Amino acid sequence: MPTQARPLDEAELLHRTALLAQAFRPAAPVDRRGLFSGRGEQIGELFSVAAQAGQHAVVYGERGVGKTSLAAVVAELLAGSKILTARTNCDASDDFTTVWRKALGELVVHSTAQTVGFAGETTREIRPASLLLGTGPVAPHDVVRALETVTHGGELALFVDEFDRLRDAEARTLFADVVKTLSDRLVRATVVLVGVADSVGDLIREHRSVERALVQVRMPRMSRAELAEIATRGIAAAQMTIRPAAVDRVTALSQGLPHYTHLLTQLAGQAALAERRADVDVPDVEAAVERAIERAAHSVSEAYYRAAGEIRRRHVLLACALADEDEFGFFSPAQVEARVSRVGGRLDAEALAGELDALAAGDEAVLQRGGPGGGRYRFANPLVQPYVVMRGLADGVVKTRDLR
Ligand SMILES: Nc1ncnc2c1ncn2[C@@H]1O[C@H](COP(=O)(O)OP(=O)(O)OP(=O)(O)O)[C@@H](O)[C@H]1O
Ligand SMILES: [Mg+2]
Repeated sequence: MPTQARPLDEAELLHRTALLAQAFRPAAPVDRRGLFSGRGEQIGELFSVAAQAGQHAVVYGERGVGKTSLAAVVAELLAGSKILTARTNCDASDDFTTVWRKALGELVVHSTAQTVGFAGETTREIRPASLLLGTGPVAPHDVVRALETVTHGGELALFVDEFDRLRDAEARTLFADVVKTLSDRLVRATVVLVGVADSVGDLIREHRSVERALVQVRMPRMSRAELAEIATRGIAAAQMTIRPAAVDRVTALSQGLPHYTHLLTQLAGQAALAERRADVDVPDVEAAVERAIERAAHSVSEAYYRAAGEIRRRHVLLACALADEDEFGFFSPAQVEARVSRVGGRLDAEALAGELDALAAGDEAVLQRGGPGGGRYRFANPLVQPYVVMRGLADGVVKTRDLR
């Protein structure tokens, strides 16, 4: 048995409570290197793209896997090596013109003007780079010309996030044109498109014509080791410790989604502090699960209640959440079948197929059919998957040995 540590006094408790709040970011992308874990491969790829003239990149993956955080941290690192950076987001109302006005609005151009007079003084003028685009609708060559001006003084890396939300199909084609022209003319600007997608083709249909210029950076779910790093680093930053078994529990429950690692570790830390301890153990994670269910986003709990109406369907949903998924979240009916009996359900393959179909039917369906050959399923919102497992645990239907 470990020796019982002295309970924290009031000042120590307050200090750690504050640190714990800063160390975890369940609700927002990480934008500092200090809070960011893993993803060495993707950082390396983006660095080499930025270093090579004529190369651009697409970062794509499931919702919530950490795409924006990667973009933010790479932008920070590039800025540290004297590369000009800008980040912008697309939304459903954007078109090609509005995205580029926003993107270039993040940058400034310096110009010098000679003033008349004896001394021949010069004045420096600073203007937003979006003025380079003129006032009318923007065409790809306007963008390229503006970027040539902006990169006159050095290199530029421009991140366009939430590219999947750009509904305007023509705008996406025009983006491909920009990439192609920037690449052909070796402009020192690197464009990085970021969005939710299973393949680059989902984001840019014309990607074949720009294939050589556009490097594909795929973001899989995070590994257990990467998630463990988030948990241990954050806890250390809060001047606390965490048992390996507690880290294990958190990373198993997170299912590759860093949001849950932040949330569960932070809540487990709070549970330990509530008992004046600086050491986080498995029961603290169990307490965190209860709190995490209460704190789940409305959209997540709604999706659960809509889907899990009757008991049989709840068993199927749980079995889905426990099935071994691939890097894109897909699992097969056979994997679900193997799990159904473990959560107390009884179904033959045919009945199961019917249940899965029902869960994947309609606009607001909790499951999505797809994957290689189209015969697999996944959670339409990945964040619902760990939620379902945690509900199962809290309801006593899932045993911890059923967690992966
Ligand atoms: N490498 C990382 N290290 C630590 N925390 C991370 C990392 N990547 C992501 N996170 C955390 O995971 C959560 C989701 O990250 P992020 O918003 O970057 O994902 P996303 O893929 O952009 O999501 P969306 O698809 O919704 O835009 C955030 O709480 C963020 O703090
Ligand atoms: Mg994002």
